[in-house]
Amino acid sequence: MAAESSLARLLKPVAGLEPAMSISDVADRLLTSEHKTFLSLPVVDAEARPLGLVSRYTLQDIFMQRFGRDLWGRRPVSEVMNGSPLVLSLEMSLEQAAKQITAELQYPITEDFILVDAGGRYQGLGTVLDLLKAMELRIAQRNQVLRKALVDLRESQAQLVQSEKMASLGQMVAGVAHELNTPLGYVKNNVQLLDQLTAPLTELARSQAALADCLRDPDCDEQRLGDALDAAAAMREQVAPELLAEDLRQLFGDTLYGLEQIGELVAGLKDFARLDRAMSEEVDLNDCIRSALLIARNHIKDKAEVVQQLGELPRVACAPSQINQVLLNLLTNAAQATVGFGRIQIKSWAEADWVCISVQDSGCGMAPDVVRRIFDPFFTTKPVGEGTGLGLSISYKIIQDHGGSIRVASEVGRGTRFLIRLPRVQAREMKRSA
Ligand SMILES: Nc1ncnc2c1ncn2[C@@H]1O[C@H](COP(=O)(O)OP(=O)(O)OP(=O)(O)O)[C@@H](O)[C@H]1O
Ligand SMILES: [Mg+2]
Repeated sequence: MAAESSLARLLKPVAGLEPAMSISDVADRLLTSEHKTFLSLPVVDAEARPLGLVSRYTLQDIFMQRFGRDLWGRRPVSEVMNGSPLVLSLEMSLEQAAKQITAELQYPITEDFILVDAGGRYQGLGTVLDLLKAMELRIAQRNQVLRKALVDLRESQAQLVQSEKMASLGQMVAGVAHELNTPLGYVKNNVQLLDQLTAPLTELARSQAALADCLRDPDCDEQRLGDALDAAAAMREQVAPELLAEDLRQLFGDTLYGLEQIGELVAGLKDFARLDRAMSEEVDLNDCIRSALLIARNHIKDKAEVVQQLGELPRVACAPSQINQVLLNLLTNAAQATVGFGRIQIKSWAEADWVCISVQDSGCGMAPDVVRRIFDPFFTTKPVGEGTGLGLSISYKIIQDHGGSIRVASEVGRGTRFLIRLPRVQAREMKRSA
């Protein structure tokens, strides 16, 4: 890297001039084609130490004077050289050289710069134009690297947002699966019980059918009729339909209740995961709250009591699945912050221009230096594997894309309150969020 960025690439080997060389000879040398590209030529001593630079312009000035060549032509070049030329070491990086040249270069540019080795011995000249070209190339390369880094960064940001979405989806699916398990379990039990309880009913029906057949049969003798009557009576006693009726009613009722609960959960799930086909869907945010609570219930129920105070809300245009994601994240955070068994209060109300939702917990709260950073991506105080620290930063972006705001107030040991405000009317087409 050092070699690549050193000034060696700019080095143009040009023979140095002896200080005693005459001005006329130097002027002639400057006219030769191999020296045409240079603004100046170096003057070096016997040990190859640079003494100065003779500029093409200085010589032109001299020769433009009346009798200039006659008066000055034979004098040594050392008399008209710049004795403090720009001298750069070949060890320098391109950036260092550029810095020094821009600091020391005089306008108009009438000279090149001298390049020396580590021992200070003259090696050749460098031109400002070459330096500019090298710098431009370097900047173009850097830009390309930066552009690529930006693309990579955007890609990984999109991937992270996606994985956070998947994580909340996973969390939601796990919650719902758990919620479905309870009613499913007792619906299954009830159906097994119903199966056992109703089995003797078929026996009863069969014995009563046999009795009816006997009664209808003119050839049936008394003995057969008596047996059929006894069998039917015994069966009736065994089944005790009047007692069974009550059990069956109860079991069917419970089973139906369980099925309704399952139906409710499935409907909630459908609501929650509603695709954003219409970003401007008119939504009652209380439905979002109920849906998020349903999904989070499993997560919260052992940690806190949930108190809902949902006011009447006008419908607002929003992407419901995104708002659900925000609410789920706030509720999950609140549950994770509880100490012992806490309380989570969720309120909604309408203001003149806004619809507001607050989620307040009685959890551990946050110190001011934590509060300052909670919306930063990847900021988490949770152990590795438990939190990615993306929940609130994504929530912030979602609410911002909806033209709303999300604010927080917190006190260590007392709890935290998040307040979301969404505009009643969307000012303009919502930005599509990632
Ligand atoms: N209700 C709250 N009470 C106390 N601290 C909170 C609360 N909500 C958020 N925080 C703090 O803010 C941090 C960032 O929250 P955020 O939801 O962005 O990420 P996370 O919960 O740590 O991880 P993830 O949401 O990705 O699982 C949390 O680690 C926590 O320190
Ligand atoms: Mg979180």
